[in-house]
Amino acid sequence: MAAGIAEVALLAGFEVVVRSRTERGAADLVAQVSKSLGKRVERGKLESHVRDTALQHLTTTTTLEDLSRGSIVIESVVEDYEQKMLLLRQLDSVMPVGSIIATNTSTLSVSDLALATLQPDRVCGIHFFNPATTMPLVEVIRPATASQSTIEAALAFVAACGKDAVLVRDDPGFIVNALLFPYLNNAIKMMERGTASIDDIDTAMKGGCNFPMGPFALLDLVGLDTSLSIIETLHAASGKDADRPAESLVRLVGEGHLGRKTGRGFHTY
Ligand code: 3HC
Repeated sequence: MAAGIAEVALLAGFEVVVRSRTERGAADLVAQVSKSLGKRVERGKLESHVRDTALQHLTTTTTLEDLSRGSIVIESVVEDYEQKMLLLRQLDSVMPVGSIIATNTSTLSVSDLALATLQPDRVCGIHFFNPATTMPLVEVIRPATASQSTIEAALAFVAACGKDAVLVRDDPGFIVNALLFPYLNNAIKMMERGTASIDDIDTAMKGGCNFPMGPFALLDLVGLDTSLSIIETLHAASGKDADRPAESLVRLVGEGHLGRKTGRGFHTY
């Protein structure tokens, strides 16, 4: 997701500094962006000089302080409240006055994350979808603590990235994940009950609803660890037994089968 967001911002003409915890992580991200831009050039969708300029505007660092020239920062670390909260606190001390701090969280409370900082008025959610380079939508999440100027700056950034923004209150799952993940979780439970196979459920939702991919292919694309974390958050918010994560999802994550990124999830890649 971080590579996708960086690519979107680069193509919109922004200078992008990516902070990764390790040199290896930073190098992998540059390789991913470079490969993706290269594919666009090969397909004739991007001029090679635009790719070259975009890559010149990308720098990486392992030091948070190197982000301090930025006007907006988007964190997209693992979907874990403690880790996101600690990072936002650090960003709050590093980012200059007047800059925006955004979280790309899928379901965590943006208000709780904002209140962990000393300047919650400049914290909001900017939520991209997989694959970020292709999906047109970005949700801008407005916690009660955010100032109007923060929200306006976030909306302006999303528009500058060529994406369609929707503004949403800080409710669990926002718009898309609140509606999408109960469906994905129910597809797994349907398979577990023996109603139909993984392939047939995928085929049914593609052919029967014109969805671009079936629920199992989509779970694998999003990542099963991320999916489980989203479903757990929605379950905690509703408290309903029907929203409990499906057993196979919990098992696959426990076994380290996380979808496309590990080569195996509900499908094998
Ligand atoms: N990673 C990056 N880019 C990808 C990709 C991937 N895994 N798969 C496809 N793409 C890109 C291609 O490079 C291509 O880009 P281009 O138009 O710039 O050349 C574009 O997507 C279209 O690809 P294709 O024509 O080869 O493939 P499809 O027509 O089959 O489309 C898809 C692929 C866009 C992934 C389509 O199947 C789709 O829209 N699937 C649904 C995705 C979805 O619902 N995402 C939301 C998930 S929820 C979420 O992200 C929330 C978060 O909080 C977890």
